[in-house]
Amino acid sequence: MCGIIGYVGNKPAMPILINALLSMEYRGYDSAGVALIEQENLRLVRAPGKMANLLKKIGDDHGLATVGIGHTRWATHGAPTEINAHPHLDCQGKIALLHNGIIENYLEIKTKLQAQGHIFRSDTDTEVLPHLLEHYYQGDLGAAMRKVVTELRGAYAIVAICVQEPGKLVAARQDSPLIVGLGDKEFFFASDMAALVEHTREMMVLQNGDVAELCEEGVTVYHNNQKVGRRILHVEWDKEAAQKGGYPHYMIKEIHEQGVALRQTLRGRLERNAAAIDLGELDFSEEYIRGVNKIAIVACGTAYHAGLVGKYALEKMLRLPVEVDIASEFRYRDPLVNSQTLVIVVSQSGETADTLAALRESKKRGAKVLAICNVVASSIALEADYVLFTYAGKETAVASTKAYSTQLMIFYMFAIYLAARLGKLNASEQQKLTEELCALPEKVQQLLSDTEKRIKALTEKLFLEGRQDCFFIGRGLDNYVAMEGALKLKEISYIHAEAYAAGELKHGTIALIEPGTPVIALCTQQSLQEKMISNIKELQARGAYVAGLCFLGNEQIEQVCEETLQVPETIDLLAPILSVVPLQMLAYYAALARECDVDQPRNLAKSVTVE
Ligand code: G6P
Repeated sequence: MCGIIGYVGNKPAMPILINALLSMEYRGYDSAGVALIEQENLRLVRAPGKMANLLKKIGDDHGLATVGIGHTRWATHGAPTEINAHPHLDCQGKIALLHNGIIENYLEIKTKLQAQGHIFRSDTDTEVLPHLLEHYYQGDLGAAMRKVVTELRGAYAIVAICVQEPGKLVAARQDSPLIVGLGDKEFFFASDMAALVEHTREMMVLQNGDVAELCEEGVTVYHNNQKVGRRILHVEWDKEAAQKGGYPHYMIKEIHEQGVALRQTLRGRLERNAAAIDLGELDFSEEYIRGVNKIAIVACGTAYHAGLVGKYALEKMLRLPVEVDIASEFRYRDPLVNSQTLVIVVSQSGETADTLAALRESKKRGAKVLAICNVVASSIALEADYVLFTYAGKETAVASTKAYSTQLMIFYMFAIYLAARLGKLNASEQQKLTEELCALPEKVQQLLSDTEKRIKALTEKLFLEGRQDCFFIGRGLDNYVAMEGALKLKEISYIHAEAYAAGELKHGTIALIEPGTPVIALCTQQSLQEKMISNIKELQARGAYVAGLCFLGNEQIEQVCEETLQVPETIDLLAPILSVVPLQMLAYYAALARECDVDQPRNLAKSVTVE
């Protein structure tokens, strides 16, 4: 997602801003810009697309400004155009500001400011911020920022400069990362350490609610209007390690980001104690949704597996038939799709050729298409009739992790939202589900910190003795998560893995079970537990070594299985968001033990743009 850099010191700022933005390219972006204070004037340069476009516009004239801010934007509100690129200015062009995150109440603020005569130029949520600063500004940018943040809802890391106070940068942080770098008579703001390690190893991580001011003399941090101290960390990482946030691979970093990513998916759509889910971005008319008689979900790879869970949730709540297709199969089977079918395409990248072709085929047949997508300016997002963005942040590792869990979150929200609109879910059922959805990000985080060591040890036990295959079994929803677990293991560790509906093994595949064959048995669906236990016993009778995956405190599964992996308890329907996490880690540690290239597995690509 967006990259932020701010500099104040005694060196020319432009090369420092440019290098920092280049070092944050890995975060993903679709436009970029800088603003510097040059002789009491603002120099603003912005360009759509990659950094090369911005560099071309900047040219050789780097100037001598020693204060400036820079940004790589990953579009959320508004297309990735020059006008929407950051920094944004106030009416008088004296304040320049950039932002990472989403201001949820921006429309409310914008309407108020417009009524006061402020002129807006972009489609972004961010632009309310420089205007709000202008509104409060009385000669002290820091004081104005402390007032601005009291009006904001949402997530933000903000950095601003003002020509009237040329030696100063002011920043605020809530739920989006922002780091202060402390050099020798030079100071920095950045959204990650990767941008700073070549300048300084002394860093300060701002906390939620902090407002910080930087000038050549140093940093001052305010919290609730009081000056506070923040701990200074000495960072040893090199640049590459810093890009991975100190993790050895992007995949494990992204696994760990799932709590935050899920919170981002919920943000603005479902808050704790909210009466209902707000999917205002879907302007479905009453007539249209009542006329839909079938849903068809189409996707590839991990997104297809998310679609299977989506089918289960939608059918359960809407009592409407839902089909799920692999995109490369869909268009060649003359699908039964017409204007009464709602087609849902699911794609992290929004560029997968087969999924895009399925979208076009569906539209040709008269269906409306809803995309569940992570990349805002992608082809699928642009061509779909409706879009629900997952807001998982950039996913770099080829093996998809946080994209999957956030896709599931969208499916659950969508199913609940639609069922409520169609009168198929009563208020108390809805409340039970939405409360639990809000609790899931925290449960994921708890799960990550509780089980990593245990999974590492189990992985070594299961796979180190040269085992070349593994089975993942489950019933109902567990069967779909088993498919994702098997895919993860195959793609990054190259261990042959097969997911099977637990009750179906005995019709052939059980012939492959030998003494010691590892089996991961997913047992989160309580109504199916007894049947699962029978299937586990059948496998153990043939020598399988079974690791059960169940809710914490499930003694029956603990007694039956050789090993258990436990996840915090939740409503059975929502279990996939939790149960997939240990499977992702299992694959990761298996790949690590086998010295595979975790982030770029052989033969695979992150985005497959050929059919
Ligand atoms: C590739 C990736 C998978 C991904 C699939 C669909 O095969 O390696 O991780 O699930 O494409 O990608 P999409 O971007 O459409 O979700």
